[in-house]
Amino acid sequence: MDEILIRSGEKVVSRVFVDAGIEALESCIDAFPHVYAVMDANVAMNCPVAMQVAQIMNRRNVPGKLVEASEQTKTMDTVMEICTWLLDNGADRDALVLAIGGGITSDMVGFASSIYKRGVRFAYVPTTLLAQVDAAVGGKTGVNLDKYKNILGVIRQPEFTYICPQVLESLPHRDFISGAAEMLKTFIIRDQGYYQRAVAVLSEMKKGYAGLPEESADEYWSDCIAAYSQELTDLIAAAVRVKAGVVTRDQHERGERRKLNLGHTFAHAIETIAQRSDYVHSVDGVQACIAHGEAVAMGLVLAARLSDRVFHGDMDTPTALEAKVSADLSDCGLCPDCPFPVDEMAEIMSKDKKAEGGRVHFVLIREIGDVVLYDLTVEEVCRLLA
Ligand SMILES: NC(=O)c1ccc[n+]([C@@H]2O[C@H](COP(=O)([O-])OP(=O)(O)OC[C@H]3O[C@@H](n4cnc5c(N)ncnc54)[C@H](O)[C@@H]3O)[C@@H](O)[C@H]2O)c1
Repeated sequence: MDEILIRSGEKVVSRVFVDAGIEALESCIDAFPHVYAVMDANVAMNCPVAMQVAQIMNRRNVPGKLVEASEQTKTMDTVMEICTWLLDNGADRDALVLAIGGGITSDMVGFASSIYKRGVRFAYVPTTLLAQVDAAVGGKTGVNLDKYKNILGVIRQPEFTYICPQVLESLPHRDFISGAAEMLKTFIIRDQGYYQRAVAVLSEMKKGYAGLPEESADEYWSDCIAAYSQELTDLIAAAVRVKAGVVTRDQHERGERRKLNLGHTFAHAIETIAQRSDYVHSVDGVQACIAHGEAVAMGLVLAARLSDRVFHGDMDTPTALEAKVSADLSDCGLCPDCPFPVDEMAEIMSKDKKAEGGRVHFVLIREIGDVVLYDLTVEEVCRLLA
């Protein structure tokens, strides 16, 4: 088991355990006298490893609550429901709230724990690839307001994040590749050889999956995740190390941490329009709203195009960097094409959390592994991407 530390100055503020067997979770929570568990209801039904977690919690008489995790329920209403449940169950300032689920569950539980009784401790068992490499690491919590993504929230570190790669074996293909987008984003920011390695592993995994009949696809995918478990664990640990390093250097996003938002100004606008217009995205024969990671993939391609146009004045369509990023994402099973015109995204981008005084902090790619912060107005971006 790998232990990756997040520090604030000399002090360790959060621990990330990678490649952790689920049985050892019990000894991890031993240090906390009063534990409360909040689990994604869908995960409780469909993920055998989460069922093991539930058994551990039952054995220890840990009170448990199920929540519905979707972008529609990622709101203050659910946060208040969690707080009310904590209050009804007598949770005091010494409570530890354990979130078991994907990024939506960890964002909501982290936020509820941060405001309940002015803040109690919390920890995560992330069950999606996206949460393991990104959402459950670094301390950003939050919920949506009026269809604006993650507009309410705080930065507060979990006591620990417990990453058990085996939990991914029940994760549907579509949710898995959505997480792969955040992992590839991390390696575009800091490469150390992992970007190409991740593309190679994910494309190999996808090759076997593509074209399988529906009835055997899920089983193949689960076996595939198990077969590639060592490669995936190495990639997850590498991505967590990159994020933990950035967060240690800039916990409150005053500088370097902004780089982790690569592609996200576009992604949040894409998600918002998709929700407003009830746009249906079709992947693996599944019709659903665009998932966060899927929007990030599209955002990465737009960021690549913008980068080429800013740095090289390259006005061809597609540009060189865009062509590479787009082909790599596509090889991994992600859809790189944004279905909405940039003009339609303009109003939402101007309300982005990263907007200040009419300018938005965009993250541009010089090359894989080298990104820079670059302020542009939304009008400039629309003109450059036209
Ligand atoms: N806090 C941060 O720093 C941060 C970073 C990136 C993304 N996010 C947020 O994370 C959210 C997306 O997270 P996500 O992709 O994990 O979504 P999610 O939590 O909705 O999980 C995706 C789907 O997979 C299901 N699922 C989860 N684990 C499973 C498992 N092991 N087996 C079977 N099914 C499983 C869930 O029930 C859900 O249907 C977005 O709201 C985004 O804003 C936060």
